Formats: sequence, structure tokens, C-alpha cells
Amino acid sequence: MYISHGDSCPIGVFDSGIGGLSVLKEIHQLLPHENLIYVGDSAHAPYGDRSAKYVRERSQAISDFLLDQGVKAIVVACNTATAEAATQLRETMDVPVIGLEPAVKPAAQLSKNGIIGVLATQRTIDSERLLGLTERYAKDKKVLAQACPGLVEQVEACELNNPETNKLLKKYIEPLLEQGADALILGCTHYPFLLPAIRKIVGSDIEILETGKPVAEQLKRILIQNDLEVGIKSGDNKTSEDKTGGNKKSTLTFYNSSNDKQHHNAMKKLWHKPIEINLLPKLD
Ligand code: DGL
Repeated sequence: MYISHGDSCPIGVFDSGIGGLSVLKEIHQLLPHENLIYVGDSAHAPYGDRSAKYVRERSQAISDFLLDQGVKAIVVACNTATAEAATQLRETMDVPVIGLEPAVKPAAQLSKNGIIGVLATQRTIDSERLLGLTERYAKDKKVLAQACPGLVEQVEACELNNPETNKLLKKYIEPLLEQGADALILGCTHYPFLLPAIRKIVGSDIEILETGKPVAEQLKRILIQNDLEVGIKSGDNKTSEDKTGGNKKSTLTFYNSSNDKQHHNAMKKLWHKPIEINLLPKLD
């Protein structure tokens, strides 16, 4: 049980860049009264090409920054950072840390022929976490893991449907289709932004799985369990909407470590609403 973080305190959400906005969107939708702080580390993306030590250090520094902002929970909206740093963050943070992982379990349940494709960064593909998930939930399935270098960069540049992006997507996805995959896991939070382009390649019969919604639901469960949800007090099972009448406005605060206009514009474009982006202070 975590105590004394105050239920109107914000929730911190971070990613190597702007991909975590796909998770933030689901959190904001499910928990509209929660105050949220988002950190995109675009100046240091992609994490997938960095060493495990580097990813752990950046994840720790960003989480420390979020803790300084008074967050009551941290969501690691990045598969790569979860794989490398979630264990360490859970040891060092005195607020709940919610990670995310490729949707191997639901994919194993949904696949009809037992052939599952996973698109993720090289670091996630090589991670013990993915290996563990595969052994646990898909031992009797054929799991085809495909690293996708270059895709994170395309999303960071907000190139969601240009010839280069489509060429990369075809290169990574077609071999999985040729091997019979009937379920496709998007194991990186940047990839849901490529969904229309991916759907065009795979057609309508393939199940595509992402993790934004399940993570938002998991966050909600954890907030309730720890008595941290906005408007929820111990022994009170009314929803936050009952209590606020839907009038209370939540705050959304955005940071990016990059000062590059392109990253800021991409963030604004993907969020679909006018937002202000603050430059993340230098973290050591
Ligand atoms: N969004 C990150 C993930 O979910 C991308 C990692 C990267 O920057 O390579 O893995």
C-alpha cells in the first residue's frame, strides 16, 4: 500500500519519444479526471538501438524528474524501457510503477492457427521479458519476432504513411504473413500510429494487438487498490465522475527533451488537440 501521495496528484507517463502518446490517449480516455504529465525523450530516441544500461539510466532520470513533480504513479509507456528498467524502477520509486509488455497472452488466445507475429524494437525482441512471455503464454505457438529498425524514427518524424514508411512496413510484415501469421502484436508504443498503414498491408483478417487500453485498465486497478484514484476515498465505491459531475477539468502537461520543432509539431499532430510543450530540463 502506497500512502500520502494525495489523490489529485498527477500521474507520470514517459516514453523514449512520442510513441507513448498512444498509451496516454487511452489513459486520458479511461481516467478523464486524472492530471497527467507526459515526458517524451525524443532527444535520445530510439531507445531500441541503445545499450540496456543507457535505457535504464534515462528511465531512472526521467522517473526521478516525475517524482519531483509530485506524481502518485508512473507509467512506463515504452516496451523497451519496461523490458530494461521496470524492475529497477519498482525497487527505487516509492510510487506504483506500471510497465507494459507485448500482448503475447491475448494474441495466443486469439490466433486460430497458432502463428503469431511480433513487431518491436531490437532491444525488446532480444529481451528476457519477451522470452518469458512467450514461454509462459505461447509455448505451443509459433512466435515470429521481427525487429523493426527505422520505424520509430518514421513516427518521430510523423511520417505515418509515406513511401519510406510503407516500404519498411512491407519489409517487416510480409515475411510474417508469408509464414502464416494470423495475429500481429504491435510491441512498441510508436507503432499504433502506423495502424492504418499496417492494416492496408495485412488486410482485414489478421488480429492486430496493442497494449494502450490494457495498460490504462491496469493503471486504474492499481490506483483503486492503493486508494489513489481522483475522488475515490477508502470505502467509497462511487466513480470519479459521480463525485465531480464531470465538471472538474484535469490538467495535461507535456515535456520533451528535444527542442526540435519537428518533434514538437509531431507531438501536437498526434495528440490532435492544441497543446503546449515544455522543454525537459537537462537530467543527470
Ligand atoms: N515506444 C518505444 C517502445 O515501446 C520505442 C522504443 C525506442 O525508442 O526504440 O518500445
